Amino acid sequence: MSALSLAVLASGRGTNLQALLDAIADGRLPARIAGVFSDKPACNALAIARAAGLHAVARRPRDYADRDAHDEALFSDVAAVQPDLIVCAGYLRIISERTVRRFESRMVNIHPSLLPRHPGLDTHAKVLAAGETEHGATVHAVIPALDAGPVLAQARIPVLAGDTPEALAERLLPREHALLVASVALLASGRARLGAAGFEYEGRPLRAPLQLGADDHLHPEPGHA
Ligand code: GRF
Repeated sequence: MSALSLAVLASGRGTNLQALLDAIADGRLPARIAGVFSDKPACNALAIARAAGLHAVARRPRDYADRDAHDEALFSDVAAVQPDLIVCAGYLRIISERTVRRFESRMVNIHPSLLPRHPGLDTHAKVLAAGETEHGATVHAVIPALDAGPVLAQARIPVLAGDTPEALAERLLPREHALLVASVALLASGRARLGAAGFEYEGRPLRAPLQLGADDHLHPEPGHA
């Protein structure tokens, strides 16, 4: 079987993109990156992509009449590389319903909270404001509603006394990277797949998110027969 072909969307630093590249380079992830796509021409993620010799495309929203027109252009570029899977890895723009529907069942996102808790921005501050004792990250399918698609997997970290939003974000980031790599590797292996009704794991509907272990592998909750 040929390696899973990925289109990666990113808007910022690109550390999740770098984690995917590192995992591909050292053989943990049987995939190849067919292109990196962004709404921010100057973002570091695109610099990482170009330095790695990848196809890198940016389209600025302000050059288009509206969200639909921007998505139409950017995702035509995405479609041109014929990806098996689109990975939103720090893509900080809402994607229009029409475009989400076009790529339904082929697009995942990593979000820095334990969804369904804390969709949207500022998740680390929201966890602290809510007095929660646990934080984490989620890989989920992209559907038209924001940060609301079926969940594949989560990574969890404890909230510690004295944590600030910055400290939480810094402690979560390496677990996000491991979660994203493990999730894409699982989809590449075919042991998990995204169907119209959500994720299947080993041939059965996934009823609870897989959990990232200390071994950096994903494990089903007890009870997933
Ligand atoms: C990550 O926290 C990701 O979960 C969120 O945006 C951040 C992107 O980081 N959606 P990076 O650009 O991959 O470094």
